[in-house]
Amino acid sequence: MGNLTDSLNKYNLLFKGKVRNIYDYGDDRLLIYTSDRISAFDYVFKDEVPGKGVLLTKMAKFWFNKTNHIIQNHILDEQLDIPENIQKNCMLVTKTKVLPIEAIVRGHLAGSAWSTYESIGKVNNIEMVNSYKKYDKFNEPIFTPSTKAEIGDKDENISIEQMQGIIGVNLTEKIQRISIELFKFAYNFAKERGVIIADTKFEFGLDKDNKLVLIDEIFTPDCSRFWLYKNNKIDYKSFDKQFFRDYLTSIKWNNNQIQLPEDIKNSLLEKYQVAYNLITI
Ligand SMILES: Nc1ncnc2c1ncn2[C@@H]1O[C@H](COP(=O)(O)OP(=O)(O)O)[C@@H](O)[C@H]1O
Ligand SMILES: [Mg+2]
Repeated sequence: MGNLTDSLNKYNLLFKGKVRNIYDYGDDRLLIYTSDRISAFDYVFKDEVPGKGVLLTKMAKFWFNKTNHIIQNHILDEQLDIPENIQKNCMLVTKTKVLPIEAIVRGHLAGSAWSTYESIGKVNNIEMVNSYKKYDKFNEPIFTPSTKAEIGDKDENISIEQMQGIIGVNLTEKIQRISIELFKFAYNFAKERGVIIADTKFEFGLDKDNKLVLIDEIFTPDCSRFWLYKNNKIDYKSFDKQFFRDYLTSIKWNNNQIQLPEDIKNSLLEKYQVAYNLITI
């Protein structure tokens, strides 16, 4: 029996990321196949979570469609020349030159930002005027870029000045402005539907005319921190990949291949599905 992706073999596999396979579809187009692979702490597990790839694809497409009034994104609306059963895992996109920056926006104080704030009172080298507790909402969303590391390296937080040094002042200003606008739009949209997007990450690329394009995936539970919001209260239990990281920490996982328990895989998928349903239905 062949793999699901065998039918994509006629296309040149340009890159196999932690979660996605990127194929050359010709004419400055890429076919992005989102697999059921799961990664955490930059480690990819052999064991997969069936159904995850389809959900991530649906969610990213939903958000790209909702936000295309803010910025052009990479999605191309064309009939795909691939079997029906894997279309649900696929996006046809504009090929871009990926900018080596992760555009992170934080609406609440959580994750690594909380750890840093707790120890030095700053978030990504920005002195905070107000004092915050863990999980507090910032007065205004904060832009905290990091480098987009090569395979095997760790992403590193960088200042706005460092980002300007890497991609220039104009692109930095534009990406910062658009990222904040995207975040505010999605934050309000999701909150009305019972999901708080605490923070998220965007990637951008330049198309062949050097135009800035929003790429990769957006506002999925793989690249965002989701909490549930009900009766005017936030439940800070994670509804995203943090759930899986917490599991690994709880078993003192030691950077080795493990068989993931069925209930962990099921719970993860269920959480992703709940977030998807709340936001999109
Ligand atoms: N439109 C695009 N043009 C070029 N590269 C893209 C585009 N959209 C996404 N990518 C790249 O494809 C890869 C997606 O695969 P993924 O498994 O998410 O990789 P990673 O391990 O880097 O997270 C990322 O490296 C991302 O930068
Ligand atoms: Mg990725």
